[in-house]
Amino acid sequence: MNVQQAYNSWSETYDSVENKTRDIEAKALRQSVSGENLDTLEIGCGTGKNTGFLQTRAAKLIGADFSTEMLEKAKAKITSENVEFRQMDLRDEWNFAENSFDLITCSLALEHIENIDFVFAQAARVLRSGGRFYIGELHPFKQYNGTKARFETGSGVFELECFVHHISEFFEAGTKNNFDVSELKEWFDDDDKTQIPRLLTMIFRKK
Ligand SMILES: C[S@@+](CC[C@H](N)C(=O)[O-])C[C@H]1O[C@@H](n2cnc3c(N)ncnc32)[C@H](O)[C@@H]1O
Repeated sequence: MNVQQAYNSWSETYDSVENKTRDIEAKALRQSVSGENLDTLEIGCGTGKNTGFLQTRAAKLIGADFSTEMLEKAKAKITSENVEFRQMDLRDEWNFAENSFDLITCSLALEHIENIDFVFAQAARVLRSGGRFYIGELHPFKQYNGTKARFETGSGVFELECFVHHISEFFEAGTKNNFDVSELKEWFDDDDKTQIPRLLTMIFRKK
């Protein structure tokens, strides 16, 4: 099963099964994203966990994902007129004009993308000057300890293909592609800072 097929399968239970990373990221995004009337692109939108929230701050929002089944769940939840969902593979050239968006968000998807430099280059092209690129990812410290995206199938637990991206890699991809880093935060289960952080969030601002 490749990543796309895995998310098609996972879509049935993605929202309902306990998932601390999914939930802490929802909290982090809501605390990190500010502003109003934003032309927004949500990449790897999945079942729309964050789409409803982002929509309230958006002039228009495009939710993009390569899993048709995850997108179906999102479409069933969010029917606002300013939201459009599109099937799109983030590893291919993004089919949007230059300077189209004020905000791009990407939650828990980049661990499945090997070449994040490509994603930053595309984001830089389609964001307006001063536009923000929010990223929320499983913290690489968790990955070093072996944590991976995984879900229960009828025949056992399936682990998805994941790539480790060190914090320095995000920094380098951002600065190389005309971004400043405007925020970097680490999020801990139960706010317990004696533990390994679960989530890393970063906001890059296009120069
Ligand atoms: C862990 S889910 C996160 C979904 C949602 N952002 C959230 O936080 O709940 C990862 C999502 O990224 C999508 N994804 C992974 N690789 C992708 C790619 N190459 N192109 C587009 N979407 C991708 C998957 O289909 C899935 O919906």
